[in-house]
Amino acid sequence: MTVVEEAPLEEAFEQTIARNDRIEPRDWMPDDYRKTLIRQIAQHAHSEIIGMQPEGNWITRAPSLRRKAVLLAKVQDEAGHGLYLYSATETLGVSRDDLTRRLLSGTQKYSSIFNYPTLSYADVGTIGWLVDGAAICNQVPLCRTSFGPYGRAMIRVCKEESFHQRQGYELLMTMMRGTDEQRAMVQESVDRFWWPALMMFGPPDGDSPNTERSMTWGIKRHTNDELRQKFVDMTVPQAKALGVTLPDPELRWNDERQAHDFGSPDWEEFWQVVKGNGPCNAQRLAHRQRAYDEGAWVREAAMAYADRQVDENV
Ligand SMILES: [Fe+2]
Ligand SMILES: [Fe+2]
Repeated sequence: MTVVEEAPLEEAFEQTIARNDRIEPRDWMPDDYRKTLIRQIAQHAHSEIIGMQPEGNWITRAPSLRRKAVLLAKVQDEAGHGLYLYSATETLGVSRDDLTRRLLSGTQKYSSIFNYPTLSYADVGTIGWLVDGAAICNQVPLCRTSFGPYGRAMIRVCKEESFHQRQGYELLMTMMRGTDEQRAMVQESVDRFWWPALMMFGPPDGDSPNTERSMTWGIKRHTNDELRQKFVDMTVPQAKALGVTLPDPELRWNDERQAHDFGSPDWEEFWQVVKGNGPCNAQRLAHRQRAYDEGAWVREAAMAYADRQVDENV
């Protein structure tokens, strides 16, 4: 298609964005908009699927039948989120198989948080409270994102994320009402996850080159730093109610800003984890590769079955 023919299409696209309407898969869209969305939604889908591993690790060691049922349901929800999001990405013209290959080869990323280990059952609670809590801050504005299939997937996902956050908080609250040893487990877990949770919003705005364009296109609605601030303000009173200390000596209420001041995460550590050098990067990808290989026969059987259905209906 020539540039001359594209001009009215581009104008229609810009107008849709300006009206805060949705772009749908059948609509014309600039190549860079499509590429940005594929990168963002795929990264989100991969995070849901890889994110099953740190918690799945504790299913067989849950302390009671109730905790096991809750954790199983939560981890299954994350699989469902991954599937919605892979489907949304497929509407942009890429296949799920291709996306999986890009994840396994390291050309597409997933959230840095899932490269940290889960060392105690308190981590199940902390992940629900802080990691799903951060995910909610990130994802609620995405319900209004400009690409239709992504926004609609996020509406369903967010409903489940709020259950995840509550189950985590409830688990921690139960432990805080228990023994000194249990309280120490919770504090130790929060100490490990606080800074990585703040990193989930991505680098500071000054180091996030894609943010501005993503906001112009209505893909992102808030900057990384705005979302991080919102998360801190939301979490501080919850920490107080829980009786845990957030491991940041600079954390305090700023009356003038009507918001909390807080310290800066170790961004060097963040970039190391993104580059693949976090504590569990190799383990997470190796596990995903193994699951993919072991699932080959299921994919083949499903394809053979689908082909037979077509033959029988001809
Ligand atoms: Fe999720
Ligand atoms: Fe979740």
